[in-house]
Amino acid sequence: MLKIKKILIAGIIVLLAGQASFAGSVDMNEKGKILVVYATKSGSTAEVAQAIAEEFRAQNAVVDVFEVKKASQPEGYTAVVVGSAIRYGRWLPDAIKYLKTHKDQLSRIPIAYFNCGIFLVQGKPGQKEEAKKYNAPAEEIVKPVAEIGFGGKLDFGKLNFWERQLGKIVGIPAGDYRDFNVIRAWAREIFPKLSKGQVRP
Ligand SMILES: Cc1cc2nc3c(=O)[nH]c(=O)nc-3n(C[C@H](O)[C@H](O)[C@H](O)COP(=O)(O)O)c2cc1C
Repeated sequence: MLKIKKILIAGIIVLLAGQASFAGSVDMNEKGKILVVYATKSGSTAEVAQAIAEEFRAQNAVVDVFEVKKASQPEGYTAVVVGSAIRYGRWLPDAIKYLKTHKDQLSRIPIAYFNCGIFLVQGKPGQKEEAKKYNAPAEEIVKPVAEIGFGGKLDFGKLNFWERQLGKIVGIPAGDYRDFNVIRAWAREIFPKLSKGQVRP
């Protein structure tokens, strides 16, 4: 009888523990629940977002990655990373809209920004300043704890007719200038600023 009682109590404890984690709380072993949101036109920024997420997961964080149009609100996340492809010197409008819509919630947790631009080839003189300039409108909405610009990718085959013509006139160089070693290193570097328990400075 005593044995059955013990088994029953153990069962109830396991059930309650399971419910607690379903309720959305972060497991004690996890380093937080991070949302990575990206805006893209031709898809290459999505791969950058995935690489960043993989690095966070490798450090035991729970990570969700969403294209900005499908992204949920930041409620329940301990940190957020927002990234955008650059077009005509600007973030894509959907990414800026996401920041404006969720400004209040995003202001309470650590947030980091990245952008991808064809003129942001790593190591190029003035690259950092150019990337910062691109990030400035986002920074005005919510101040990030970290930010960067990465070299992007341009595949003329993925552009529409007018974009192709414009790209040729402006002389935008086709090619893949993303350096995944740099991208992954940045994710590892900023992780301590985003992981569980961090509050905004
Ligand atoms: C019409 C057009 C305008 C662009 N303007 C810029 C720009 O101002 N600065 C820049 O660094 N890259 C610019 N790019 C390059 C893209 O930002 C780059 O290819 C980016 O990585 C694309 O990301 P995606 O594949 O996620 O859309 C432009 C590309 C196109 C097609």
